[in-house]
Amino acid sequence: MGKDGQKRFHILTFGCQMNAGDSAWLAGALRELGYVESARAEADIHILNTCSVRDKPENKVYTELGQIRLLAEAHPEREILACVGGCVAQQLGSGLFARSRELRLLFGADGLASAPGAIDFLVKNPGQKIGLLDFSPEFIERPPKAEPGATKASVFVNIMQGCDNFCAYCIVPQVRGRQKSRKSGAVLEECRRFLDCGAREITLLGQNVNSFGLDSQGDGTGFSALLRRTAALPGLLRLRFMTSHPKDLDSGLIRAFAEIPQLAPHLHLPLQSGSDRILRSMGRGYTLKSYLNLVEKLRAARPGLQISTDLIVGFPGEEEEDFEATLEAMWEADFCASFSFVYSDRPGTRAKDLPGKIPRRAALERLARLQERQNLNSGRILRSLRGTSAQVLIEGKETKPSSAAPEAGEEGETWYGREAGGFHVLVSAPLSRCLAPGDLAEVIITGSGKHTLKGRIADK
Ligand code: SAH
Ligand code: SF4
Ligand code: F3S
Repeated sequence: MGKDGQKRFHILTFGCQMNAGDSAWLAGALRELGYVESARAEADIHILNTCSVRDKPENKVYTELGQIRLLAEAHPEREILACVGGCVAQQLGSGLFARSRELRLLFGADGLASAPGAIDFLVKNPGQKIGLLDFSPEFIERPPKAEPGATKASVFVNIMQGCDNFCAYCIVPQVRGRQKSRKSGAVLEECRRFLDCGAREITLLGQNVNSFGLDSQGDGTGFSALLRRTAALPGLLRLRFMTSHPKDLDSGLIRAFAEIPQLAPHLHLPLQSGSDRILRSMGRGYTLKSYLNLVEKLRAARPGLQISTDLIVGFPGEEEEDFEATLEAMWEADFCASFSFVYSDRPGTRAKDLPGKIPRRAALERLARLQERQNLNSGRILRSLRGTSAQVLIEGKETKPSSAAPEAGEEGETWYGREAGGFHVLVSAPLSRCLAPGDLAEVIITGSGKHTLKGRIADK
């Protein structure tokens, strides 16, 4: 408890943007209940929002619970409460309670909506424990947390939960449950509220957005129709979404890129591997040729479209020639960025029982080669943007001293945001321009790094 008598909370988030979105919602809900967000050392309520997609995520959770124990021991006067949410909580279940005295709340994806009330209850009832780990057949609505003054320029909105694809390596369908779409009216209402509170960019989130509306919970609105309706909302400057599955990307979405100006020219389209043999074994449902065909159609629909991807190296049975096919595919698809991972066995997945596991050293070596290739390509794309002008949606002000020199003779400041293709840009601007989050600024790109751009505000 702080000196002012207020309970303080801290959220540590691992994993994907859906988890980041969930944490942002939880923070808003706790603030509404009178709790205050604080640095870790000052917090009474510690929430770990976890991810179980790779590696040994349970070890991370145990380490964090150990840290919370140390804090509790250092402050016996404080009532420390630990909560574990997200995919690891779902995966390990209530057995986790035995690992920590402070741990008194577990919540999975469908338990999140009830987590703020449960935390409030546990604060008032020491000694109690709650597990919110059941899956629901429907998308569980939670009250939108758009707050005037506290809403960011760029926000996430969930449009669905879970996944039905069961790719051979992936634990997500187990820990997030089967796919269930949210009603389109509820999605639009949440977007509208965010826009009313100052948001200008919305990213629609789901494990596989292309199959939005196609499960039993759908209301007849497919993904492309949802994009059109969202884009038409007043105040929206930019629309993004993730993640797309190549096997479900239809002509409606390709047309959307041609016809919806608010749709940003960036698409995250996980390829996973460039080898058809490995793609088959992963159960991805497409070939390299059909993937590249999609890329070609998308770029024809929206010239300049930037495409990023996810890649896995060292999938069971991956030979050197399969890996080289992935390297080759990276050139052909001309990815602006790739998130690359060493394959990791996850419990309950088909790949866990496949023969031909790749030694970690060999997989790490492949990963390094792959990342080197991506760095070359990203660097080239970023350099090609130098000297061009870009529209940057301003998200916030850098607190560090300005690295991009302000206009000669004028006092300056540095802002950050993203240009349409999704690249992060540091923008130097004279104070007199009075920039603010949510502004769409015309910027001249003056420099580029490994993953980011630098620019200065264009003269009016
Ligand atoms: N729903 C998305 C992303 C799911 S998880 C999709 O299907 O594309 C994000 C990324 O983590 C995946 O795209 C994949 O590249 C990676 N990933 C998932 N399971 C993995 C595993 N067992 N080992 C290594 N990487 C994995
Ligand atoms: Fe992690 Fe996947 Fe869960 Fe996201 S959905 S938190 S990436 S396991
Ligand atoms: Fe995983 Fe495949 Fe779904 S990677 S999240 S099972 S689309």
